[in-house]
Amino acid sequence: MSGSTSAIKDFSLLRGQVDSHATIIAIGGGKGGVGKSFVSSSLSIFLGHLGYKTLLVDLDLGAGNIHTCLGEGLPNLGINEFLKDPKLSLSDVATATRFPNLSIITGCSDVEDTANINEEQKSRLMSALYGYKTDFIVLDLSAGTHQSTLDFFLMAQRKLVVVTPEPSSIENAYRFMKGVFYRRLKRFEYQLHLENLVEGIMSDKSRWGIRSPADLLEVVSKQEPNNGERLKNVMDGLHFELILNQARSLRDNELGPQIKSVCLKYFGIPCHFLGHIEYDNAVWQSVRKKRPLVIEYPHSRLYAQVLAISRRIANARAKAAAL
Ligand SMILES: Nc1ncnc2c1ncn2[C@@H]1O[C@H](COP(=O)(O)OP(=O)(O)OP(=O)(O)O)[C@@H](O)[C@H]1O
Ligand SMILES: [Mg+2]
Repeated sequence: MSGSTSAIKDFSLLRGQVDSHATIIAIGGGKGGVGKSFVSSSLSIFLGHLGYKTLLVDLDLGAGNIHTCLGEGLPNLGINEFLKDPKLSLSDVATATRFPNLSIITGCSDVEDTANINEEQKSRLMSALYGYKTDFIVLDLSAGTHQSTLDFFLMAQRKLVVVTPEPSSIENAYRFMKGVFYRRLKRFEYQLHLENLVEGIMSDKSRWGIRSPADLLEVVSKQEPNNGERLKNVMDGLHFELILNQARSLRDNELGPQIKSVCLKYFGIPCHFLGHIEYDNAVWQSVRKKRPLVIEYPHSRLYAQVLAISRRIANARAKAAAL
């Protein structure tokens, strides 16, 4: 318990000390095979095409396949070499691709996986990512809710959740968002000295009428008005952005806004729907051909859908830069 608490404290210090140069975008989703790597790689290609220097980082450390999604070879150096050798910088392990403005850091290895990365390695990697000079950093995360995955997701300014219309994927996406919510809560309840109160409330949820994370924040702020309100404000800063991938019917397209409203009701946190991407066999066919779909099929509907999402993300950075 004390070990994990001190680690959480370290990350918050780190966050306070280092200003991110790039806009960091994390792509998570809880479930395997929903299209996180497809979205990460397509989005990165488009951001590069739009003129933004982009670094795509494969953080699916045990089963990285981002190079395959891009149809690129596997370079000699990748994230695992960075993690093992403190003398290496991220620039040393980043490789230029044949796509304009796009570099990658691959994660393919059978030696390390996200679950094995230790706190020191994680802090060093996060610090290097915050310090890396580029426009966008896209983090392709692994499936599941391992603490490291949640921490990498939380370090990003833009937190994208990829979900498919299958009930199991939606269920996993909620579980993932819940995991992210409680991971962030844990970090700040410690800083605001609310951990005993939260622990007490959570150990007797029925007595306090807690049915959702939003209920918990309500009760905490009633019990501890000052710090409880601060905690609520901090949690309000947590925004999820949803992408519905592999949509097959018009009804599927309605799921995005539905998940968004459940999210608001359940977490009490606004969740933005970024857009849907249809199911198209051309996706895996293009991976087989080593020609990413967004290059091979520029007239497809998928191309337009992924480009629209990429533009929305790029425009937000352009607007922020203009302020
Ligand atoms: N919109 C789509 N239409 C058709 N096939 C898709 C679509 N999106 C992804 N796929 C296919 O689904 C499979 C899983 O995609 P991908 O590897 O991107 O998922 P993932 O979430 O990264 O999986 P993992 O959790 O294992 O890393 C791949 O074969 C990919 O080509
Ligand atoms: Mg993947």
